[in-house]
Amino acid sequence: MEDEYDYDAMKEVGKVSYEALQHARSVVKPGVKLLDAARVIEAFIMERGFGMAFPVNLSLNSQAAHYTPAIDDTAVFTDNDVVKVDLGARKGAYLGDCAMTIDLTGGQAKLIEASEEALEEAISMVKAGRKVCEIGAAVEKVAGAKGFRPIRNLGGHGVSREDLHARIFIPNYDNGDETALEEGEVIAIEPFMTDGEGRVKDGASLQIYQKVGSPAARLASTRVIADFIDAKYSTYPFALRWLFRDIGGQTEFTVLRAIADLSAADALDRFPVLVERRGGMVAQAEKEMIVEKDGCSVITA
Ligand code: CO
Repeated sequence: MEDEYDYDAMKEVGKVSYEALQHARSVVKPGVKLLDAARVIEAFIMERGFGMAFPVNLSLNSQAAHYTPAIDDTAVFTDNDVVKVDLGARKGAYLGDCAMTIDLTGGQAKLIEASEEALEEAISMVKAGRKVCEIGAAVEKVAGAKGFRPIRNLGGHGVSREDLHARIFIPNYDNGDETALEEGEVIAIEPFMTDGEGRVKDGASLQIYQKVGSPAARLASTRVIADFIDAKYSTYPFALRWLFRDIGGQTEFTVLRAIADLSAADALDRFPVLVERRGGMVAQAEKEMIVEKDGCSVITA
């Protein structure tokens, strides 16, 4: 790990992320617009002096991740919804990441418990030297015992400064990867459970982007918008609704054209909504922790 790694800053973003997640419980209710919920949850973090590690994800039912409301989103939570809230506060380059599932249906407790139990089982195994495939095997075992499948093409990850998906992938099944956790490393573990196939695919909604390059843009307006993204969001993921809110002086058409140009030039990474391949219901639980010699300390607590 980097010598100058600031664990106090890391713990601060973890704590605020956890508090925001708890606050989300009082916000995600039937009848509430997703757009309003997203605004309130993000405001909770920003009012405390933190930035966002990424736009709050409010993924419903067979959506596993990466749904965040559009600027004109009219969707409202109903009592048919199982809501995955995934969020993170940011302080400088230190990134929080945690998630939970809120069941507005009252009928998906078993699926949600499976994801939470798998997470706790995985956390109990974390220590320096632990192979990531062993953690995956534990998650898979809990899923099987509960009659569900883990989602195999989603998983936990290392969290370095500036990078939410660093070095390691922590599978939700035994993928044979013998990469070992290192002392001092920050990781997020996130079991996803489903009654479907156990894999996700890209869905239609695309609201989250991340700037990864600076091409020579042909249009002046695209250059202006690219510079604005660099200045405002740096290389962290942002939501289209943030860009519309923040930029001013540009029409929606101009902004969308710039996004299309920058995407075509591979200057933007795109994060479309991820949906269960067979349309299965999905639950997720996620915590972030620091790997220690003989265990770990969870920071999103
Ligand atoms: Co994560």
